[in-house]
Amino acid sequence: MASAAPPKVPGTALLELMQGQQLGSDQQGVKDSVKQYYTDLTSSKDLLTSACTTCKAPSPDVRAMLKDVPAEIVDRYYGCGTPLPMGITGLRVLDLGCGTGRDCYVAARMVGPNGFVTGVDMTPDQLAVARQYMEQYNTQVLGYPKPNMRFVQGHIEKLDGVEDGSQDLIISNCVINLSPDKAAVLSEAWRVLAPGGEVYFSDIYCDRRLPAEVRTHPVLLGECLGGALYTNDFLRLARQTGFMDPRSLESEEVIITDPALKDLVGNARFYSTTYRLFKLPGRLEDLCEEYGQVAVYKGTLPGHKHGYALDDHHFFVTNKPMLVCGNTAAMVEETWLAPHFQVVGDRSVHYGAFDCGPSPAASGAPAASKASAAGGCC
Ligand SMILES: C[S@@+](CC[C@H](N)C(=O)[O-])C[C@H]1O[C@@H](n2cnc3c(N)ncnc32)[C@H](O)[C@@H]1O
Repeated sequence: MASAAPPKVPGTALLELMQGQQLGSDQQGVKDSVKQYYTDLTSSKDLLTSACTTCKAPSPDVRAMLKDVPAEIVDRYYGCGTPLPMGITGLRVLDLGCGTGRDCYVAARMVGPNGFVTGVDMTPDQLAVARQYMEQYNTQVLGYPKPNMRFVQGHIEKLDGVEDGSQDLIISNCVINLSPDKAAVLSEAWRVLAPGGEVYFSDIYCDRRLPAEVRTHPVLLGECLGGALYTNDFLRLARQTGFMDPRSLESEEVIITDPALKDLVGNARFYSTTYRLFKLPGRLEDLCEEYGQVAVYKGTLPGHKHGYALDDHHFFVTNKPMLVCGNTAAMVEETWLAPHFQVVGDRSVHYGAFDCGPSPAASGAPAASKASAAGGCC
């Protein structure tokens, strides 16, 4: 008689995730299945759920920029958020799983001629569309002397050709859930980011660990649901990689209307969430600590004249001093946000644990995640 398989113990799924086995051991099979899914799609209308298309409209600034992006590219957008922060002039931006490049086209305008945008994707058909309009868009629409963007075929688990510390901002839109090795994706992101750099990305998360039959179902996988991480496992993975204090910015539930898919996922609920992960080696603590630091937002980020939401529980009212923990101080003082904030105080005196309730100023901020996705310290 064959010996019974060892019983699944709590935490096995987390172990599989850490070992790059969340979607099973056939990594190439998962990638082939995903590649085929995105090769076959010709428009976002082909999708069966809302997971791979944003529910919330982009900001007015981004909407205005999208008007100049070629129609075919906008039509073949399969993202689940708008990971396009304003005020990134001059930055080096990397888009993980750029698809046909909608976000890269907008980012190319945002960074200006002195910034640069690299889009990486494994599906040749997607990249062919992205490349088709690049030259004309850069020179004729944006009026740049030469293109400030490029599209590279590659795998986000191994960013060949992207130098250590060479990127200021990594964006990604509804992609990491599709990867069979999410630990490798985050490690690579950490490697290629410069100190003070940030991963600002939207992806699908789940309120529980999904059973194997859901994780490996080709349609659920392609629709960005099967590979969705349980929120707390994502937070654990991010911290283990070095991103000690993941911050959730906004989150929205994904609606599944297809009856067969609904039946397959059962009671599981899915959320499209935008996270911010800062690479601040040695500067972020696992819990919020108080050093008496005060941060003031200057109102200088485009589109954020009256205030700025760092995350779903820190809304800085322009020119209003706000007591912050050491982690938040580092996020606004030692990253690309630095020119827009003034931080008073340092970490020379410790006053104990930071009061982790949302600050009064945060009451005007976007509603806290329905998925309890906030991974922040406060
Ligand atoms: C849901 S689409 C999103 C595309 C794009 N970010 C957008 O918003 O339109 C997912 C994309 O990720 C790419 N992709 C999935 N897994 C990948 C991997 N492991 N390495 C590189 N690209 C990957 C697919 O080829 C596809 O173009």
